[in-house]
Amino acid sequence: MEPLTPPEPSGYPTRFGHLPRWAQGGLGLLEEGAALGPVFGLRLGWPTVVGYSPAWNRLVLSDLETFRSRGSLSAFTPYLAGGIITTDPPQHRPQRQRLDPGFHAKAVAGLRERLLEALAPLSPPGTFEARAWASKVALTALNLLYFDGRFPLRALAHFLAPLDHPFPAPLLPRPLRFAQARRRILRLQTEGHGMAAHLPLEEVRVGLAAGYDTTAHTLAWAAWHAARYPEWHTPQGHSLLIKETLRLYPPGFVGSRRAAQGFEFGPHRFAKGSLVLYSPYLTHRDPRLWPRPLEFDPSRFTGRIPAWGYLPFGAGERTCLGMHFAHLVLEAALALLGPLEALHGDPAPRPLLTLAPRGALWLQSLGPRKG
Ligand code: HEM
Repeated sequence: MEPLTPPEPSGYPTRFGHLPRWAQGGLGLLEEGAALGPVFGLRLGWPTVVGYSPAWNRLVLSDLETFRSRGSLSAFTPYLAGGIITTDPPQHRPQRQRLDPGFHAKAVAGLRERLLEALAPLSPPGTFEARAWASKVALTALNLLYFDGRFPLRALAHFLAPLDHPFPAPLLPRPLRFAQARRRILRLQTEGHGMAAHLPLEEVRVGLAAGYDTTAHTLAWAAWHAARYPEWHTPQGHSLLIKETLRLYPPGFVGSRRAAQGFEFGPHRFAKGSLVLYSPYLTHRDPRLWPRPLEFDPSRFTGRIPAWGYLPFGAGERTCLGMHFAHLVLEAALALLGPLEALHGDPAPRPLLTLAPRGALWLQSLGPRKG
């Protein structure tokens, strides 16, 4: 039987046909494609294929030889192009083994007390905007992890700021900003501060970029939902509240690879060189995997999670290096917040380089935290 061409959402009839819709923020485009079937095609300058079923996620995330990081969408932003992120087999595994020890759950748990101490001054009094607060938390936490808190916070914020802006800001080369950041990292490494002292400079740079907006956006949403669902804003409830926040709003809403050889999936055959996308956003909102998918309900995580159906941190050998650290930061920051009221805001997801809340999220702190 002839292989079938996957369906495509509407776009212009050229090889760049879906690029304008993608650049405007591709969530509508992804949702339209998902309605056509479990695998759909896009034209983004290259033949592109998107899937979101558990079988697709397993295929794309378990076979690092076929589905390569080099040449994927990460290569288009100077922030993520480099280090472990663009390393493929055979170097990927040994490089991960060198990086992993500092990011293990146990190693990271050892930072908890110092993290709480570093975040305590950020405990927001009165009315505050959750995105701005969450950005400060993420910067402070990364600064502690990599540099013992010695990187001047304003300079770190300046380096990472484009990640929080719409396209094309995160894609532009910024030689001056990067040179300044590299000089500071190098100086702190030489002085022996924090985990950075034990890592190649490039790994520190891409780790900062991979960990900043992802953690900040998740925290902003988590704080908003802590206000809306106070029954989950408790020391026991935070872990499930964070999981559910990451289900509905996975900052890494698509992950990408480049096919090093042709491959088949169901009745479809895809050519070598295809851009291959998986989408935690679509997977997490698929009603076949997650009943009442648009409802915020952390209790769903007390039951079974569908295999390859929940991947806010990716999966397989490339699972997020900072996953345990991110959970630690999110829990520590929520623990600093007392009772909250959601005043006004727009939490709908908007795709920047990662998914972000569309608008400001104004919260009112109603008193000191208990316990
Ligand atoms: C809530 C916060 C975070 C989310 C949602 C998140 C999400 C992800 C996802 C989805 C991937 C896999 C991408 C792929 O290959 O398809 C990833 C990889 C990665 N993340 Fe995170 N991340 C978060 C926080 C962090 C932090 C705090 C750090 C560093 C301190 C970090 C460092 C990395 C690195 C280095 C990789 C590449 C791993 C590899 O290719 O082997 N991330 N992250």
